[in-house]
Order: sequence, then C-alpha cells, then structure tokens
Amino acid sequence: MSKAKPPFTSESPLYILGAGAIGSLWASYGYQAGANIRLLLRNQATVNNYKKQGGISLIRANQALLSPVPADCPQSISSPIQHLLITTKAQQTLSALMAIKPHIADKAVLVLLQNGLGIAEQIRHEFPQATVLQGSTTEGCYRQTDFEFVHAGHGDTFIGTVNSNNKTDLAVVAQLAASLSFPPLMVSVSDNIEAVLWRKLAVNCVINPLTVIHRCRNGELLNTPETITQMRQIVDEILHLSTALNRDHWLEDLHEHVINIAKATADNRSSMLQDIEAGRETEIDAISGYLCRLAEEHNIKMPLNQQLLQDIKRISATN
Ligand code: PAF
Repeated sequence: MSKAKPPFTSESPLYILGAGAIGSLWASYGYQAGANIRLLLRNQATVNNYKKQGGISLIRANQALLSPVPADCPQSISSPIQHLLITTKAQQTLSALMAIKPHIADKAVLVLLQNGLGIAEQIRHEFPQATVLQGSTTEGCYRQTDFEFVHAGHGDTFIGTVNSNNKTDLAVVAQLAASLSFPPLMVSVSDNIEAVLWRKLAVNCVINPLTVIHRCRNGELLNTPETITQMRQIVDEILHLSTALNRDHWLEDLHEHVINIAKATADNRSSMLQDIEAGRETEIDAISGYLCRLAEEHNIKMPLNQQLLQDIKRISATN
C-alpha cells in the first residue's frame, strides 16, 4: 500500500461512483464538510439531468439540504482518480469501474461500500496495483425521487483491509476512515472487516428477501409467528455453513442480532424491496447467491436460502 496522502484536495478529490442512497449520503455530507468531492454519473444525459435539479437534496429531520456536488461522467473526468468510494449496486460495479478504468491511478485507493460479497475479489483481479478496502454501513437512507434522498436513521460504518496485519496499511486505513467521517457520518476502522461483512451478509440474507416476499417493512417481519420462524430457520442454515467454514465465532448471537436490526430499522423498506418496487435489478446474486455458491462448494445444503434465491429471481423476472 502506498504512503498516506492528504485527503481530498482539489488535485486529488474523492470521487464517488454510484449516486444511489449511500453514495449520495456521503457526497452530500462531504460537500457540506468542505471536502473536495466529485460524483461520477453514468453519462452526460444523467449529468445534465442532475444539474437541472441543482444537486443532491438530502432530507433529514424534515429539513432539506441541497448540495451542488460537482459531477462528471466517464468522458469528462479531468484528474486521475486517486481515491474512489464505490457505492454502486454489487452487480453494476465491475462494468461501472471498467467505464472509468483509464482514469483510475495505478496505486489508487478503492473503497467498496455496498451490500453483498464477491465483488472485491473481481476488483482486485482487474486493478492489481490498487488498494482495495471494504466497508459496511448501517446508515439508513432511501431515495425519494431522482436526486432526492431521506437520511432516515443513523448507523455504524466500518472499513478495513482483508488479509492485512501490516501496520502501514492499518495507518492508511485509519487516516482514510477519519477523512471519510463527514459529520454526522462516522467511519471506524475494523481490524476484522471480513467478520463485519459476513455478519452483514447474514442480516441481508434474512431481511432483504423476506421483506420482498411478504411485501413489508423490516419491522413488520416481527409481527407474525410465521415470519419469525422463517427468520430463525434462515439464520440456522447460515450458522450451519459458518460452522463448516470456521466462521461461527463471527456470528455470535446472530438470531438476536437479526431481530435487533429488524427492530432498529423497523420503518425501513429494505433496499431489495425498494429495488423491486422501482423495477430495478436486485442484489440477490451477491447476497443469497453468494451464500448458496459457497455452500455448494462445501457440499452444504441450504434449502431455504436456495428457495429465497429462486423466489427473488422469479419475482424480479416478472416484475
Ligand atoms: O439492505 C438493506 O436494506 C439494509 O442493509 C438493512 C440492514 C437490511 C436495513 O434495511
């Protein structure tokens, strides 16, 4: 990993790829904190549409905050990308990155903040010299209209490196975490980001598909004995796989944890339900799909998770 650089100057802005809820949340608070941020949008038409709206509008506690964050499309990027926060949907990440590949500096720091697993490995393969950090957030934010978002609930955000005990790496991660902590967003360093991501994957494997199948808000999963039993059974399958992978110590009190997340985000529509309602592709392949592929490699049966995977694919296809 290269030496720590000063964060987000005009020569080296923080680029944010993916103007969905999480990307827009960081872009908006970063802009308000005076950091040099640039949004990366799909094409010039999207940039024009964005400019017409005057920027990102973020609603928090019934107050709207407009942030005219500068935006580029792949054709208009003018400085090499040294720091990139990637908040695209898992399935769109690689193609979005390939569109800007010529602009990404060899030794760039790429921070992946999205639901699901399996994408970081693909990025490392395509950008072997870059530093790829992974992150997880429980900030609650949803899209109201094109560039208008609601910051619905405050959560925790962690970043870290996988397979690294190197002190320099950890110092760079710590500096980046501090640089990405735009109030009220707080980013902390995790010395075991794999465990954080695995735990988040488990939560997403339970809450996201079930809220689509029952067409309900997260908290409504706790309203009937039927859905509570389904949640327990899905968690049991994940615990079984985790034991086979020697990861069960990462999932202590997973049953309780999933229930607590459903309670804490009770009024939220899960990101997967929002995708289905908006007719967008879901992240099911990077969530239940990733889990089921891993189970298959280890000859572990996961009938419920398999069923959820098939159900969501079917619902998406007929959406
Ligand atoms: O994907 C989501 O919606 C979120 O990760 C979570 C934690 C399930 C809350 O809605």
